[in-house]
Amino acid sequence: MQTLFNLSGKTALITGSTRGLGFAYAQGLAQAGAKVLLNGTRQEHMDTALEQLQKQGFDARGFLFNVADEAAIEAVFQQLDEESIHVDIVINNAGIQFRKPMLELALSDWQRVLDVNLTSAFLVSRAAAKRMVQRQRGGKIINIGSLTSEAARPTVAPYTAAKGGIKLLTKSMAAEWAPFNIQTNGIGPGYILTDMNEALVENEEFNKWVCSSNPSGRWGKPDELVGTAIYLASSASDYVNGQMIYVDGGWLATL
Ligand SMILES: NC(=O)c1ccc[n+]([C@@H]2O[C@H](COP(=O)([O-])OP(=O)(O)OC[C@H]3O[C@@H](n4cnc5c(N)ncnc54)[C@H](OP(=O)(O)O)[C@@H]3O)[C@@H](O)[C@H]2O)c1
Repeated sequence: MQTLFNLSGKTALITGSTRGLGFAYAQGLAQAGAKVLLNGTRQEHMDTALEQLQKQGFDARGFLFNVADEAAIEAVFQQLDEESIHVDIVINNAGIQFRKPMLELALSDWQRVLDVNLTSAFLVSRAAAKRMVQRQRGGKIINIGSLTSEAARPTVAPYTAAKGGIKLLTKSMAAEWAPFNIQTNGIGPGYILTDMNEALVENEEFNKWVCSSNPSGRWGKPDELVGTAIYLASSASDYVNGQMIYVDGGWLATL
């Protein structure tokens, strides 16, 4: 059983992992034995995250770059090549939310949300998968979707379009890269307590709606996503490809 989920000897790049769910995935993968490469855009968040992991004795490095910046991604992968660091596992987790009714939505805001939540997964995965193919040792790619990979809510159209796109991009990657022993799957978190949702938790009406519309009656916690990430990053999922796993307390089941 331990061998199935053991990530010793593996290196995982987790985008958007200085805080929130990304940090929880990074910590979980490190606990399972992986070396973890953190990413974010803000130095102070990176410093705190690295300190927390290194204090626990984990092998962790940090790379500050914008996941929507193709040149920055290529430069990081070049640096990893030069240091002979091979990425076996990618979690495309970095994401942003932006709430505005579609009738008032500017193209620049639409584009920004699509770039960070969807195009980034293509760019980072392309760079990683090229190297995985060359190395001939396979790999694991995990794309982070959302409940909005399946269902829409008002005021979050670009996020919904991006997360819907993540689901089909995941299938495309599985279709093209399965022959190279790369498994690409997705996780769709439900409503989880992170900074991204701070304002929603504080909004009494929204908070009540989240709890009453979920058969589990509560928000999820970041740690509750970790088992699924380890499963999809490990050899336990070697014949699972192109799937989304929703970790949502049962929310989608009631639609
Ligand atoms: N929380 C939920 O309920 C929920 C539900 C469904 C899906 N998700 C998805 O799960 C993922 C993580 O969400 P979260 O709630 O953990 O978010 P969060 O608490 O806001 O954290 C976002 C992380 O992404 C990084 N980041 C933001 N923009 C970036 C960029 N352009 N390039 C690189 N890193 C960037 C941030 O780092 P810096 O601060 O250093 O920039 C931070 O580490 C997102 O894809 C989100 O859509 C979350």
